[in-house]
Amino acid sequence: MPVISAPHQFNEDELYVDLRSILGGPLFLKCEGFNFAGSIKLKAASEMVDSAERNGTLTPGSILVESSSGNLGVALSMIAASKGYRFLCVTDPRCNLSTRRMMEALGSRVHVVSEPDPAGGFLGARIDFVRALCATDERYVWINQYSNSGNWRAHYRTTAPAIARQFPQLDVLFIGAGTTGTLMGCARWFRGWHRRVDVVAVDSVGSVTFGGPPGRRMIPGLGMSVRPPLLDESYLDDVVRVEEADTIRACHRMARSGFLFGGSTGTVVSGAMAWLARNGTPSVTAVAIAPDLGERYLDTVYQTNWLEDLYGADVLGSDELTPVPRPA
Ligand SMILES: Cc1ncc(COP(=O)(O)O)c(C=O)c1O
Repeated sequence: MPVISAPHQFNEDELYVDLRSILGGPLFLKCEGFNFAGSIKLKAASEMVDSAERNGTLTPGSILVESSSGNLGVALSMIAASKGYRFLCVTDPRCNLSTRRMMEALGSRVHVVSEPDPAGGFLGARIDFVRALCATDERYVWINQYSNSGNWRAHYRTTAPAIARQFPQLDVLFIGAGTTGTLMGCARWFRGWHRRVDVVAVDSVGSVTFGGPPGRRMIPGLGMSVRPPLLDESYLDDVVRVEEADTIRACHRMARSGFLFGGSTGTVVSGAMAWLARNGTPSVTAVAIAPDLGERYLDTVYQTNWLEDLYGADVLGSDELTPVPRPA
């Protein structure tokens, strides 16, 4: 029986969904949403705060500040509340309302930048705001997930070895790319494993992470409007890009089987299924990482008006609207 006295002491790291009967492909989905922050970002947040405490950057009078599309902000809000720090999250209009409310409920302040930077998009505008703030008041400590090595080290230390323990025959691992912390931590760890594993990055169309033109992206978590400083493509075996309409369809197909996952999980699953259809064999052992659950997306990914306005009335077809027949 786990008994904890601080919220970040609990994280379910051993739960997988077998998607074969739901989507027809050989894919195990590692669920990272079962902790008090509700997402994989708990791991990066804990590692980065611990290391800032250890190296003396973060002291009792400090005010944490970070740019986040939501989930890191929630994780940092939780840790800041638990450890007695103040925290300011700088986000943009794509951050879900419920995510914002959650941060505020945990005692954090939330600043929403309203205009994208002409060159760096919303992310550029968020970072400009954080830099300006830190320049005016030295109590602010910018965790900077975009270049903080603790972001990938968290996954090198926990996520990758946890997968290897459960899947000693792993052949391919699919990981969504946001800051690329999860991707680079796992890719680096598996590079040193005794068995060859294909590490496949999954990105959304419209993200500039792996090149390609910037475009509209409405689903938070994956994709960047500037190249992620943590990214080192020499550790990756392949990249798959996914249209947001396909992300939506994958989310709804899983929801029709009772699994309500977040938007980026739909992207990773859709990309993984497409990759496996091209390159997989019947005996392949494949794992994908699901960064969070679906409750934060009830007003977006799972809301009909939002979907139809952005992706058209026929974005969902019969595959997504009918329950999946299962054996009795
Ligand atoms: C829902 C969701 N999916 C995926 C990611 C991407 O993870 P990473 O920043 O480690 O690349 C994030 C990061 O914030 C996220 O919130």
